[in-house]
Amino acid sequence: MPKQIYITREIPEAGLKLLREKGIEFDMGTNDLPPSKKEIIKILKKKPYDGVISFLTDTIDEEIFNACPTARIFANYSVGFNNIDLEVAKKRKVEISNTPGTSNIAVAEHTVALMLALTTRLVEGDRYMRAGKYKGWNPKLLMGTDMKGKTIGLVGGGAIGGEVAKILYKGFGSNIIYCDVVNNKKLEEESGAVKKEFGDLMKTADIVSLHCPLLPSTTHLINKEALLMMKPTAFLINTARGPIVDEYALVLALKNKVISGAALDVFEFEPKLAKGLSKLNNVILTPHIASARETARNMMAEIAVKNIISVFETGKAINSVLG
Ligand code: DGY
Repeated sequence: MPKQIYITREIPEAGLKLLREKGIEFDMGTNDLPPSKKEIIKILKKKPYDGVISFLTDTIDEEIFNACPTARIFANYSVGFNNIDLEVAKKRKVEISNTPGTSNIAVAEHTVALMLALTTRLVEGDRYMRAGKYKGWNPKLLMGTDMKGKTIGLVGGGAIGGEVAKILYKGFGSNIIYCDVVNNKKLEEESGAVKKEFGDLMKTADIVSLHCPLLPSTTHLINKEALLMMKPTAFLINTARGPIVDEYALVLALKNKVISGAALDVFEFEPKLAKGLSKLNNVILTPHIASARETARNMMAEIAVKNIISVFETGKAINSVLG
């Protein structure tokens, strides 16, 4: 009997081709919006699927595992895997994998784009033009800040943080500081990065950029107290996970000019925004698109499928996150 999997939403052909080559059958959701948990459960109960490709918008917990006791793997189509209850997966001996390294370049470039958009006041300028407010050159209009030589504080010095550091160190002569639970020698050698305590980093950085996973220890890491440590001229960038930032505290900090500005690609209550956020001029918002590139999405599809195949063939995923 051929193996069969359920893919909760559409993935690129690059991954589907590998499934066909291996004779693995699949059912795939085709809606642009995420399926509800109820919808996922309904589908999972229809067939004895051997595996599932899940997305960061799918909450994979006991109820889901119960609906599909035959599934040996949930291969997440993303680098992050905070949508999955790993403890329950371990208990039930269900393999869980992610797609590490697929979006380092894309997310790093998006992060730097957000930094530049903030320091050049690019989005404000665009809004100003479209509103017909530009009546003639004014030397004081929408004054920005130089990026060159600034101190960039990376919260999380892993692969994505490392790419951001390389672009900024080589392109803008930035001083890179980082905090992490581990030392990153490569980051230090490639970008002259210096490891700091979290508090020191928050106080020193001109731009704080978040590149850590969402864990109990990083949830609301950027809260009122942390924001108060930042320089009033500093900017905050979040391309990691929304709940790392206490978004209500951020709205207040931006309103009261505790910090100069922020740019967010991810949101605490995604897809909703904390009250007041969209009214602020000193914040730039993008809809979780940092990794939205054909290159990254194709790689994510291939790696998710390769993890499925690996479990079917060897019992273990290539990119298991269960250790
Ligand atoms: C990831 O991979 O975790 C991104 O947030 C979505 O592509």
